[in-house]
Amino acid sequence: MSNTTLRGRDFITWLDFSRDEIEAMLDTAHDLKKKFIRREPHKVLDGQTLHMMFYNSSLRTRNSFEAGMTQMGGHAHFLQPGAVYTPALKGDEVAYSTERISDVARVLAEMGDAIAIRIYGKPTGWEYGKGDRIIREFAKWSKVPVINMEDDIYHPCQALADVMTMQEKLGSNLQGKKFVMSWAYSGSVAKPLAVPQSAVLSAAMMGMDVTLAHPEGLDLDPRILQATKDLAKKNGGAFTITHDNMDKTFQDAHVVYPKAWTSQPTDGGAWDEAKAKAIFEANKDWICTQDKMELTNDAYYMHCLPADRDMEVTDEVIDGPNSIIIEEAANRLHAQKGMMALIMA
Ligand code: CP
Repeated sequence: MSNTTLRGRDFITWLDFSRDEIEAMLDTAHDLKKKFIRREPHKVLDGQTLHMMFYNSSLRTRNSFEAGMTQMGGHAHFLQPGAVYTPALKGDEVAYSTERISDVARVLAEMGDAIAIRIYGKPTGWEYGKGDRIIREFAKWSKVPVINMEDDIYHPCQALADVMTMQEKLGSNLQGKKFVMSWAYSGSVAKPLAVPQSAVLSAAMMGMDVTLAHPEGLDLDPRILQATKDLAKKNGGAFTITHDNMDKTFQDAHVVYPKAWTSQPTDGGAWDEAKAKAIFEANKDWICTQDKMELTNDAYYMHCLPADRDMEVTDEVIDGPNSIIIEEAANRLHAQKGMMALIMA
C-alpha cells in the first residue's frame, strides 16, 4: 500500500477506495483476527466511540460492530430512529418527531469518533438511492468518519467480510477464480440490491471471473454494472451478465452466492411491488439445490444471511460441507475491525 493514510475517510462504498487501500483493510482484518484467536489484546481504538444509527433491523451488523468496538477498547452506541428523533433530510421533516441530519451529524461527531448508519427499503419509501443520499448527508456534516452499514445501493462491510472469507478458503490471490452471483427465489420481494451490487464490485476489484445471473426484469443499477465492468478490466478479471439459470452458470464455479433481490427501477421510478412479486413467482425454480452444487468446481456456498430456506436454498446446501455462511458472518466482526482500525485510529 502507498503511504497515504486512511484515517478520517468515510466508508460508504468500495468505489471510493483503490485496490491497495481495500487490501490494507483486509490485511489488517486478517492480523486482528489472529490476535482475537490468540486472545492478544488489540485495543487500537482505546476510549473511542462509534455511534450506530439503525433505521432497519439487524443481527450480524449490529452485533459485529458492537463486539468489534469493545474488543478494540472502544464502545458502540445503538441508536434507533423513533427512540431518538428520526434524522431526516431537509424537506422530509415532520414537526417534533424528526431532527435535521445536519444537526444530528454535527452533534454526534462532537461526542464520538465515527458514525455508522443503516438505511434502505421501507424507511425510504423504497425510493432507490435515498438511503445512500441520507448517509452522504451525514458524511457532509460529520467531522468524523461515516460508515455505511448497508444502504439501498451498497453493503461495503458485507463485501469486505465476503472477500476476507474467500481469501481464507481460496488463498489471498483470488485472481481468475469463478464467482457466481445468482438471483434466487424468495417469498418476500422486500430485498434491496445492495448485497449483489457490492458483491460483484468487490469480486471484480479482486480480479475474479465474475458472473451475474438473474431472470429478466431483475437488472441491477446500470452504473454499478459499468463500474464492475471497468474494475474487471483494470484488475485482469472478467464480468459476464446472463439470464442463464443455475444449471448453466454454476459450471466450473469456485464460489456461488445465490440470493434474492427485488425488481426495482434505479432511475428514479417508483417501486412496483406487484410487478416484483409476479417476476419472483414466475421464477420459483431459481433455488440452490445439491444437484446444482454438483455442477460446480466443488464451489463454496455463500450468503450474507438471513437466508430464506426452502426458497433461495435447500437445507442440504446451506447446512452442507461447502457452506461457509457462518465463517462469512463471523468475518463481519474481523473485516469491520480492520476497516475501523484504519479509518478511525
Ligand atoms: N448480512 C447482514 O447485513 O445481516 P444483518 O441484516 O443481520 O445485519
